[in-house]
Amino acid sequence: MFPEHRMRRLRSGKIKDLVRETSLSVNDLIYPVFVNETINSACEVSSMPGVCNIPVTKIADDAKEAADLGIPAMILFGIPENKDEQGSSAWGDDDVVQRAVREIKNELGRDMLVITDVCLCEYTSHGHCGVVDHETGEILNDPTLPLIAKTAVSHARAGADIVAPSGMMDGMIAAIRSELDENNFNNIPIMSYAAKYSSSFYGPFRDAAGSGCCFGDRSTHQMDPANSDEAIMETALDIEEGADIIMVKPALPYLDIIYRLKTEFRMPTAAYNVSGEYAMIKAAAQNGWLDEKKVMYESLLSIKRAGADMILTYFAKDMARMLK
Ligand code: PBG
Repeated sequence: MFPEHRMRRLRSGKIKDLVRETSLSVNDLIYPVFVNETINSACEVSSMPGVCNIPVTKIADDAKEAADLGIPAMILFGIPENKDEQGSSAWGDDDVVQRAVREIKNELGRDMLVITDVCLCEYTSHGHCGVVDHETGEILNDPTLPLIAKTAVSHARAGADIVAPSGMMDGMIAAIRSELDENNFNNIPIMSYAAKYSSSFYGPFRDAAGSGCCFGDRSTHQMDPANSDEAIMETALDIEEGADIIMVKPALPYLDIIYRLKTEFRMPTAAYNVSGEYAMIKAAAQNGWLDEKKVMYESLLSIKRAGADMILTYFAKDMARMLK
């Protein structure tokens, strides 16, 4: 009761540092990168100021810059030269992501953890995350599973440290786990995009990766933004199937989901601060409407406070510089 209690007593100077409950460290950051086979020099994504598509030949330099800033991990998205119905440039040993992984590993070895996004949407001509039945327009779940499983194995063979399936196909974690194990990659962890919502915040990513759908959308396999209990079920299934790290995506509009999953499962939990969340802050800052650095810090701190152990964010390098 006031006046015995005065909350402001703990809100000044060093006391504030002592009682702070959440902290943000460079070790929490995962840097997402678009590696593009069709370009020769870095090319900025117009809806994501400061984020570039990077050619395979320059990827090791970019990774080195991140490593020098102390960033422990990056996640790769590939943009291939050729797209087809099945997305077959997702799983070749000399395709874009596989080459990029080798470049980074040759340069940095254990100094950079390489995570690969495992999905077909950047590789299919129709932009969907799986095999499509053209008569019905349906994205076929079961025929997609062996394709993503072999994609994951090809990433591991190239040297990826973690594979991160993002396609939201039912049974994908089990399919990948068994294919990895069969190929002697039983020590490669799976980071599952467990609660991935059918979100409009992915717009700029689809510009960056050229992965927009030419018909339909992803709402038949990604989660309904209205649902929260469903995220528990989705995630429980992924954990049973062998997920080592669970992810919530997007992050800021879904802080309640991060909190619920962390509380429910006590698993290593990642949150993806997606392209649209990044673009909003950048655009407001460019207009002089928000203080970019402060808003970036507060946003990432909030994601940690909600329960995330790690954050995939396009702000990774900026945040690392600020923390230095
Ligand atoms: C699918 C994938 C997407 C993102 C990451 N992996 C796009 C989608 O589901 O359409 C979006 C990430 C972002 O918006 O930053 N491979």
